[in-house]
Amino acid sequence: MKNWVYIKDISKFVGEEVLIKGWIYNKRDSGRIKFILVRDGTGIIQSTIWSKDPDCPIFKKFEKLTQESSLKVYGKVKKDERAPGGYELEITDLEIVQIAEEYPISKKTHGTAFLMENRHLWLRSIKQTAILKIRASIIKSIRDFMDKEGFILTDSPILTTNAAEGTTTLFETSYFDEKAYLSQSGQLYAEASALALAKTYTFGPTFRAEKSKTRRHLIEFWMMEPEWAYAELDDVFILAQNLLIYIVERILEERAEELKILERDIKPLEEIKAPFPKIKYDEAFEILKKSGKSKTPYGNDFGGTDETIISEKFNKPLAITHYPANIKAFYMQPDQHDHDKVLCMDILAPEGYGEIIGGSQRIHDLDLLLNKINEYKLPKDAFKWYIDLRKYGSVPHSGFGLGVERTVAWICHLPHIRETIPFPRMLYNLYP
Ligand code: 4AD
Ligand code: MG
Repeated sequence: MKNWVYIKDISKFVGEEVLIKGWIYNKRDSGRIKFILVRDGTGIIQSTIWSKDPDCPIFKKFEKLTQESSLKVYGKVKKDERAPGGYELEITDLEIVQIAEEYPISKKTHGTAFLMENRHLWLRSIKQTAILKIRASIIKSIRDFMDKEGFILTDSPILTTNAAEGTTTLFETSYFDEKAYLSQSGQLYAEASALALAKTYTFGPTFRAEKSKTRRHLIEFWMMEPEWAYAELDDVFILAQNLLIYIVERILEERAEELKILERDIKPLEEIKAPFPKIKYDEAFEILKKSGKSKTPYGNDFGGTDETIISEKFNKPLAITHYPANIKAFYMQPDQHDHDKVLCMDILAPEGYGEIIGGSQRIHDLDLLLNKINEYKLPKDAFKWYIDLRKYGSVPHSGFGLGVERTVAWICHLPHIRETIPFPRMLYNLYP
């Protein structure tokens, strides 16, 4: 009776006596037969306790069990079409580990603020565990794809001396006698690594002290950033396209059950095939203007609603390229045919999810970079090492950043980014 198994593997143990270590998801009493739904982190199984004797010890234990009490159950696995999941456990004995206090999250519906306040407990619900499993698989599929394509994982520091993505969203902290900032992006360091390894990627948490309270913004989010020496914008566009196709295919294959739990309509995901459409900023602006639904003036960055309007015209991820230089980062390579535009791309997810990838070709010319650093009023000293890269074997190079949480939100079709990471960091929201 020491055969400890996990519910996800239960089909292999039909007819056998097993031990499951878990928690009470729910229980129901039908007189001489009692039902408990046991969850063990890998799944949920309906379990039954049956006895002719109403005073038997196991019924006494059943009485005590509250939602989320922890327990060990011993029993025989049965195939049962009527049971959710197709298998049932006939309990022969149970051992209580802890009787839970009255659980704050019950079956009734709770408001989001309450659930966020109890995020540490909310994580145990079926939907939340499904999202976390999909998130893990997305991350794994990203790594597998990049490794397969010959990119070497390097990883960039989190404590940095400089701003990669604008000085207005920097988290400042003290670093002994110096000032340091939490990384907004691993890109600048990845550029150094790319000149060492040709193809590299960095994958880690990034931080933006951004006062945006939208369904797409987190203060702390994870980003995967490839950087590729000698690659031009088109090369990284194709890389990004193939990466997204790979992720979607893997999730459809590996996480069908979890997508079902989330009631995700998978048809739109099945349509994610090459080639992805690619339009320039000017064309995207025309789409917006024709829609009559946007007041964004020409030359400005698109807002979240603008992105939704534009991407609704397409059923696949859409790349918008050639944005005006002055609304984009200092390091972007100008278009040689139109100096006011830069060789960049934002890839918008379909179904209204907006930008999930931002990337560009980088400036490789020393003087051009120095001019930009001046123009953006960036501290030249902090960028000394970055400027060095343009002095020693500089080459055209390109890369992008894929936001993990926005990708999870899109693939799971979630209304808000807050459920895509176990403990979201949002504006004025640092607990739990
Ligand atoms: O467009 P962003 O700011 O680009 C960069 O940071 C570049 N340095 C990347 C590169 O070229 N290596 O961010 C890239 C992606 C966005 O497309 C989005 O998916 C995600 O990171 N992102 C956020 N996700 C959640 N909350 C936020 N506040 C985000 N800001 C960016
Ligand atoms: Mg961007």
